[in-house]
Amino acid sequence: MKSLIVLVLFLYTILINEIYCLYEQSLDSTSKKVIWTLENKNKSISIPGSVPGGVYTDLRNAGIIGDILSGYNDVLTRWVSYDTWTYTGKFNVSSDNLKYATAKLILEGVDTVAFIELNGSPVGSTKNMFVRYIFDVKEHLKVGENELKFIFESPTEYAKARSRRYFTAPECVPDVYNGECHANQIRKMQASFSWDWGPAFPSVGIWRSARLEFFNGAVIRSITTHTEKKDSTWFLKVKVYLETGEHIRHIKGYLSVYLSLEGHQTIKIGKYVDTKIKDEGTVEVELDMNISKNVIREWWPNGYGSQSLYNLLIFFTTYENWSDREISYKHVKIGFRTLELVEQEASLILGNDTAAGKGLSFYFKVNGYPIFMKGSNWIPSNVLPEIGEKDTKRIDNLLVAARDTHMAMLRVWGGGVYESDYFYRRCDELGILVWQDFLFACSMYPADPEFLENVKAEIEYNVLRLQHHPSIAVWAGNNENEVALRGNWYSTQSQFEKYKKEYIKLYVDTIKPIVEGIDPGRRYLVSSPSNGRKSEQDGYIAKNPYDPNYGDTHYYNYLADNWDQNIYPQTRFASEYGFQSLPSIKTMRTSTNNTSDYKVDSDYSKHRQHSPNGYNNIEIQMRRHLKLDIDDPKYFEKFVFYSQISQAMSMKAETEFYRQSQVDWYTMGALYWQLNDIWQAPSWSGIEYGGKWKMLHYFAKSFFAPVLVSPRMTLTSEVNVYLINDRFVPIIDANITVEMFNWTSFVPIKTQSYPASADPLSSKKQFTIDLWDAHKKDEIFLRFTLNAEGVVSSPNNYIFPVPLRNTKGLRKPKVQISVLKEDSKMGKEFTVNIKVDAITLFLWLEADSIDGKFDDNGLIITKPHTSVTFITSENIEPETLQNAISYQYYEN
Ligand SMILES: *[C@@H]1O[C@H](CO)[C@@H](O)[C@H](O)[C@H]1NC(C)=O
Ligand SMILES: *[C@@H]1O[C@H](CO)[C@@H](O)[C@H](O)[C@H]1NC(C)=O
Ligand SMILES: *[C@@H]1O[C@H](CO)[C@@H](O)[C@H](O)[C@H]1NC(C)=O
Ligand SMILES: *[C@@H]1O[C@H](CO)[C@@H](O)[C@H](O)[C@H]1NC(C)=O
Ligand SMILES: *[C@@H]1O[C@H](CO)[C@@H](O)[C@H](O)[C@H]1NC(C)=O
Ligand SMILES: *[C@@H]1O[C@H](CO)[C@@H](O)[C@H](O)[C@H]1NC(C)=O
Ligand SMILES: *[C@@H]1O[C@H](CO)[C@@H](O)[C@H](O)[C@H]1NC(C)=O
Ligand SMILES: *[C@@H]1O[C@H](CO)[C@@H](O)[C@H](O)[C@H]1NC(C)=O
Ligand SMILES: *[C@@H]1O[C@H](CO)[C@@H](O)[C@H](O)[C@H]1NC(C)=O
Repeated sequence: MKSLIVLVLFLYTILINEIYCLYEQSLDSTSKKVIWTLENKNKSISIPGSVPGGVYTDLRNAGIIGDILSGYNDVLTRWVSYDTWTYTGKFNVSSDNLKYATAKLILEGVDTVAFIELNGSPVGSTKNMFVRYIFDVKEHLKVGENELKFIFESPTEYAKARSRRYFTAPECVPDVYNGECHANQIRKMQASFSWDWGPAFPSVGIWRSARLEFFNGAVIRSITTHTEKKDSTWFLKVKVYLETGEHIRHIKGYLSVYLSLEGHQTIKIGKYVDTKIKDEGTVEVELDMNISKNVIREWWPNGYGSQSLYNLLIFFTTYENWSDREISYKHVKIGFRTLELVEQEASLILGNDTAAGKGLSFYFKVNGYPIFMKGSNWIPSNVLPEIGEKDTKRIDNLLVAARDTHMAMLRVWGGGVYESDYFYRRCDELGILVWQDFLFACSMYPADPEFLENVKAEIEYNVLRLQHHPSIAVWAGNNENEVALRGNWYSTQSQFEKYKKEYIKLYVDTIKPIVEGIDPGRRYLVSSPSNGRKSEQDGYIAKNPYDPNYGDTHYYNYLADNWDQNIYPQTRFASEYGFQSLPSIKTMRTSTNNTSDYKVDSDYSKHRQHSPNGYNNIEIQMRRHLKLDIDDPKYFEKFVFYSQISQAMSMKAETEFYRQSQVDWYTMGALYWQLNDIWQAPSWSGIEYGGKWKMLHYFAKSFFAPVLVSPRMTLTSEVNVYLINDRFVPIIDANITVEMFNWTSFVPIKTQSYPASADPLSSKKQFTIDLWDAHKKDEIFLRFTLNAEGVVSSPNNYIFPVPLRNTKGLRKPKVQISVLKEDSKMGKEFTVNIKVDAITLFLWLEADSIDGKFDDNGLIITKPHTSVTFITSENIEPETLQNAISYQYYEN
């Protein structure tokens, strides 16, 4: 911190002494120096506009439309995306600013197809919301008032028109999505045309910041950093991309780089630059440093170590002579870690005698250690990109929730956006590795020259922007497009060769060289799922992209018994898998208060379920294990609650199966689908829209625990017991206690202890038991507890031998709740004591409208007294909380 202050002081000193300095004039509406208005085509609507912003946000603020996520508003507001909108900004420019040699208009993000005029003259156009556009505007600016206009084309009309020329499958999304067709023709968030978990809001607007930049010399436009470790030295290469104005063909100046390290040390290096400019108006300069490993702490993923980050400041001083110097600077934080995606002959590790030894391994090695990647998939935090960008609190809550459930990796999925700088900075700080898809998902894509040029700019810009983040682990070309073509998802079989050619043109010939050119240190996977290197050897469309011996897989199966671990196929790396549940009633209330909507078969419920046959699949899962009577007066409430139990238990089973398989198959990743939600609807998420945790997310805290006893019941009713150890230290001389309970009693019928041990970073089968052959399976269950020195906490685990609906002896418990304030703790923490008189399953606590979180929920209670902690930001008395708490549990 101290070294940063020194650097900032240094920066300040040179800036105030400066005569000429580059000048930035914000065009954001928050600067209050620009008046933005928004008009539709026939000018029947003319309202204040916002930048960054978007048309749905502005219409909402003007009271023209209501809450877009309420009721049926997704279809009721669709007219917005069919109209033509114009944003007009008025701002003043001073004569001093026009003395600069160069004036540029910098647009960090425009959504999407717009024609831009400045004072009536065309300055350019945009057609990719993921690209930063930069236009030289000096000749169009004038002293005094200026007018900047963005005339947006309707994204749906643009996509339709383009599709007439360059049709690319699919024809459209399924009808139940209530969506729009041909998202693949427009470089815009693909999910904004609808998805199976989300509504269509084909937005337009200036969704990221806009500004004018005035300067004489050159500015630092981008930087990349490349780290490499050799013996006791870290090698750092900083590549700086300098940019000048239109008419400047030569730059002269001094580039300096400051890196702050441990022990308040700072390394400074510099270089004179005196060079000709390339046609694009840019020049690249490289600076190298060798850094002793003694002044650096490595960056680790969450759960494996700390996340040390170091300030890197870069200055470029342009000057012809010292009295007219001009400074541009950039500040980023970087981390030092090695990361490798290992794809080598599996037989080298697993031998040639097992099925597991076939094919190639697929795992991440971080700082030299193979790490099983626990995590989830990230979809956009908001359907409106401008909110997803600005609402940092929402992003923070989601990323912290991932951190708190032991996740070390999130896959930023290909139908969303390249997230904000803030998002990746928080991932750096929280130790969350990012598997970054490029934004192509569940579709074939065009490969005409215009489209490819458009994509090139997008890939180049985003790799340059994000490359320095230590959190970024891997790039992937697309989501499910290899498997969609191979599996004929969109009836493309008769044109397989054409689509394959276009696939290779886009992801291999166009994207791959750009990524590898800018960022040679990271692996570029062409698709997810894919067979990794094997897909590449097989000409990019593998015979079976789901081959369990190679690469990553996506696996969904709603028809088998999802609580049964034996149904899951082995895989090297599970990058998607999941089950739907409904959002809580509390979250649904933010979308509708109509009592008649609160039925599984209401029009409203149908409208929100985009997954074909979705409710049926939920019901099939639920009915296998849980007893629910259609005539129950609380049928819908129970349907919602039970769907969350079913989802949580299924995900627990599947995730633990993958973690166990670290031993006998070398599975090395479990990223479930999906972390978050985009609206209040049935989906695969663990966290509801608005931030409320489903039971799944609480369960993730246990099934991702660093040390876990994990039993698997085989088809022959034996139980194999695994011990999973995600730490760098071994578990030795530990015991696993197995207790057999009768559903009717807290006192175990039988207790037995087994010795246990596990190597660091491993999963190991400990023993096999068959405890119930003498008893009735429907009357008992098993509890597993670990006792190990040095293991502070490890969740209990359970085996329920028969579906809960078929058990005997589970009775309605009496539950008593009392709340105590935790005086010793900082903040507002309460102990919630729970007293029950019988075994209680999935006790679900809610604190009504009090904003806060339990540390555990969906409790499986096997003793009379249990307590959980409730943390809130509100200043309340224990009695208030006690009165607010309500609960549900499973009953037969
Ligand atoms: C102007 O456009 C709006 C929105 O498309 C439409 O509802 C309205 O009828 C139009 N008004 C006129 C006068 O054409
Ligand atoms: C609410 O109920 C009314 C009357 O049944 C119905 O017309 C309307 O569509 C419902 N609105 C929503 C958002 O479900
Ligand atoms: C520009 O300056 C003029 C004259 O000072 C002033 O009347 C006008 O409001 C300014 N425009 C904006 C957008 O600030
Ligand atoms: C860093 O070390 C390498 C190998 O020891 C050497 O070749 C290189 O010149 C050094 N670079 C700098 C900038 O000191
Ligand atoms: C040095 O800079 C000053 C101020 O811009 C300028 O007037 C002068 O001509 C420059 N001198 C040389 C030798 O370039
Ligand atoms: C396993 O078999 C393959 C193919 O026959 C061979 O290349 C490889 O060396 C073998 N691996 C081991 C560990 O024997
Ligand atoms: C439903 O009622 C609650 C409580 O009055 C309110 O906060 C919420 O905004 C309402 N939801 C809708 C969609 O109107
Ligand atoms: C479980 O408890 C019930 C009621 O006490 C008893 O009838 C039954 O035999 C017990 N089952 C076992 C397997 O102990
Ligand atoms: C495990 O059990 C053995 C034998 O009963 C005992 O000596 C040892 O202390 C136990 N270890 C732990 C960590 O409980």
